[in-house]
Amino acid sequence: MVMKKTLYIPGPSEVEPETLLELAKPVMAHYGPDWHQLYNETCEVAKKIFGTKEYVTLLPLPGSVCLEMSAFNLIEKEGEKVVAITNGFFGDNMVEMLLSHDANVLKVESEWGKNVNLEKLEEVLDENPETKAVYLVHNETSTGVLNDLKRVAEIVKKKDKILVVDAISSYGGVELDFDQLKIDFAVGYASKCMSGINGICPVAVSKRFIEEVRERKIPVKSHYFNLIKYIKLSEEWSSIGHPHPTSMPTSVVRAFYHVAEKALEEGLERRYRRHADVAKGYRQAIRALGLNILPKEEDASPTVTTFIVPENVNGKVRSALYKDFGYMISGGLGKLENITLRVGHMGYTANPEFLIKLITALETVLKRLRTIDRSLNISDELETIWDGLRQYVT
Ligand SMILES: Cc1ncc(COP(=O)(O)O)c(C=O)c1O
Repeated sequence: MVMKKTLYIPGPSEVEPETLLELAKPVMAHYGPDWHQLYNETCEVAKKIFGTKEYVTLLPLPGSVCLEMSAFNLIEKEGEKVVAITNGFFGDNMVEMLLSHDANVLKVESEWGKNVNLEKLEEVLDENPETKAVYLVHNETSTGVLNDLKRVAEIVKKKDKILVVDAISSYGGVELDFDQLKIDFAVGYASKCMSGINGICPVAVSKRFIEEVRERKIPVKSHYFNLIKYIKLSEEWSSIGHPHPTSMPTSVVRAFYHVAEKALEEGLERRYRRHADVAKGYRQAIRALGLNILPKEEDASPTVTTFIVPENVNGKVRSALYKDFGYMISGGLGKLENITLRVGHMGYTANPEFLIKLITALETVLKRLRTIDRSLNISDELETIWDGLRQYVT
């Protein structure tokens, strides 16, 4: 018998069987009235999850490439200043991406595992009033830190700068409030907190961002990443039922529509609370096993938990969970390799049933590897956690 594998990694996340059935339906063309309607309706639902009435599109690209679309459009000439806030692997990647566009990247760094350095952000913006934009990773998936988007947005908007947000591992699991916070460009994701299928990313763009691109003196050095051309083509072709400038993975979009509708049915407020409560349960259980969580409690992410596991067993814990239980969790990234392990509790798996199964397996594996005392028993702790999360049992 083949063991059922469960994705506890922070994306792609486990997909509900019902969503997989969407992929079994006949493939739709990427034009024609049926597709046009589905595409538009999907964008409308995606907007609600962003918390926006602004322009939203679905890009058939990986998340980091969607983020790079903003750089293609924003950075007009060499040496233009942009601030990149970084406190982890994905923040550092963003810096590299911006440097490749010849921007003068002003880094606002903080230690991996800590939140954004807000004083430094204000200071850098005060000292560099010509800064064009600020880039932020909302949820740093490498460290399990939820960055303080609200405070960052307040500072950035007080200085009247453009705000670009990588919401790849928060979209659908943490409130974004695109319009309220006056975000200008945000990238969401299909296969993390939405539990959809990888292949498209919802992207939201403000009028201000679009205006900024329209006012460029130097044309964007890309055809398909040129946002103005992209919007123009989408509008022109939309009259023939082709609402997008290229062909699209239509089955993946249909699956995304399905999960996005389900998210609205659940209610976004409840969904965000479910993610936060389940994450809290994970931290409580992992601490009960005698392990430490990397970030402080108030900075910890509702969608991914990063915890410290001794180097001599770090890889072994991960492989035993997979080999013996079929549970796939992630290792540390970059300088956290062999120091931390990471668990995603995203969308479908942000659920007490998944939590209990993984923690029970983790306890067994840690005992077997003699990382924790064999006499330790966390069943009382798990019972308390279960009671607190009972409302989310499906
Ligand atoms: C915060 C964040 N940014 C960017 C990425 C990269 O996404 P992709 O591999 O789709 O380019 C990830 C992937 O895990 C992520 O978590």
